[in-house]
Amino acid sequence: MEIRVFDTAEQVGQATAVLIASHLINKPESVLGLATGSSPIPTYQNLIAMNKSGAIDFSKCVTYNLDEYVGIPVDHECSYHRFMDEELFNHVNIRREAIHVPDGNAADMDAAAKAYDEAIVEAGNIDVQLLGIGHNGHIGFNEPGDKFVYGCHVVNLTKSTIEANTRFFDSEADVPRQAISLGIGSIMNAKQVLLIATGEGKAEAVRAAVQDDVNPACQASILRTHPNVVFLLDKAAASKL
Ligand code: F6R
Repeated sequence: MEIRVFDTAEQVGQATAVLIASHLINKPESVLGLATGSSPIPTYQNLIAMNKSGAIDFSKCVTYNLDEYVGIPVDHECSYHRFMDEELFNHVNIRREAIHVPDGNAADMDAAAKAYDEAIVEAGNIDVQLLGIGHNGHIGFNEPGDKFVYGCHVVNLTKSTIEANTRFFDSEADVPRQAISLGIGSIMNAKQVLLIATGEGKAEAVRAAVQDDVNPACQASILRTHPNVVFLLDKAAASKL
């Protein structure tokens, strides 16, 4: 595990974008595993700038997002489909058919989850997986528990995640109670994993992930067993290491 600490969240975004860019340059048809939330926004802004300047090309890559809420329309202002369009996809030269986000409205959610995993394997697995980390140590929506779940699955969101995500909705009551999330298997099968954490609020989760035993109570701790993982932190998120 490599840990890089930067002064600011903006620098974290620049460094993370450079690492993703290097995948696209070395392998234009890379399979990118992408995340939503506040943490990757500076990374996406840097990737957009690099694409606009001609430094990187998205036209041959394929993307798979980590997760989506269950039961909100794709065009809902808080859907992860919409987030990705607004924060990245609408601004780069990616093909629409290359974009994949889990279906939170499938008639058969288990079948949709299975098909999502199969599609990733068929694409050759993820080359670079971008992750944020929850205050409770979740990655994707793999919430703290007594096991690591391998496959894509429907998750009951914990109280802490619902509270943390209320900031995107009108009220806590509006936050969906379930999500569909990639499991730990597809994340661990990625050739490289980049975890971004910024702000003091993430310091304890980062400390637990890096320093406690590998334990499903902190799902991010499994990353310590990955052969190629980089934690990109600002000083505040690294303050308890
Ligand atoms: C988002 C995701 C989540 C977030 C995490 C941190 O696709 O999978 O694990 O990365 O909740 O969210 P932010 O970055 O908003 O603090």
